[in-house]
Amino acid sequence: MDADESPSYLRGKQIVVTAGPTRESLDPVRFFTNRSSGKMGYAIAEIAANLGAHVTLISGPSPLDVPHGVKRIDVETAEDMYKEVLRHYEQADIVIKAAAVADYRPKITFDQKMKKQEESLVVEMERTQDILKALGEKKEQQYLVGFAAETTNALQYGKEKLDRKNLDAVIINDVSQEGAGFSGDTNEATFISKQGRVEQLPLSSKRQIARQLFSLIEEELKGVEQ
Ligand code: CTP
Ligand code: CA
Repeated sequence: MDADESPSYLRGKQIVVTAGPTRESLDPVRFFTNRSSGKMGYAIAEIAANLGAHVTLISGPSPLDVPHGVKRIDVETAEDMYKEVLRHYEQADIVIKAAAVADYRPKITFDQKMKKQEESLVVEMERTQDILKALGEKKEQQYLVGFAAETTNALQYGKEKLDRKNLDAVIINDVSQEGAGFSGDTNEATFISKQGRVEQLPLSSKRQIARQLFSLIEEELKGVEQ
């Protein structure tokens, strides 16, 4: 699809998307991360740019190419992502947090490579900042969308995240389902809005899920205006 093809409510809007995993270093050669590929966030950024939005993609380490017309900012840690997202938050109309942010990081990052010593090793970890929750607390005009990755009680846990983080909508992925979640090209999800709308997004490509997401946001924004 081309940017000029259809009139869109996204034309000229500022959209911030986060994508990919974060990486939390233990020493110069080792880090903790997760299985996120970045594909869902990159698909969202690509579709938003095609629909005429100004898109800033704040991305953890990902091998994916920057989608056409998207401005990418590379980050590594949850802390870096937090700083970059905050820097762009005030100007944003819609913020979509597809990144799989590390919940914990090593309490100490060593300057030198750790040498092996004992037979076992305990690494003390500390919580990272919950970026999405902080955004929910600071929310003004922004339409704020989070993701919820769950393996059990997906709807209940997802709905709790919507409330706890003061989101406008949450996209719930049951990552125990075949074809859904972190690394593949497809996804299957449930969209729940603050206004109480619940929509199943059946198994399809991540681009198709992104298109559906922007139609749902359009309808939700119209609903708020009325
Ligand atoms: N998130 C975030 N900052 C964190 C952790 C998560 O911004 N430190 C965001 C993710 O980008 C996602 C949403 O919060 O949009 C939900 O992430 P998820 O891992 O499903 O939920 P958590 O709140 O971290 O709870 P838990 O992992 O315990 O289920
Ligand atoms: Ca988490």
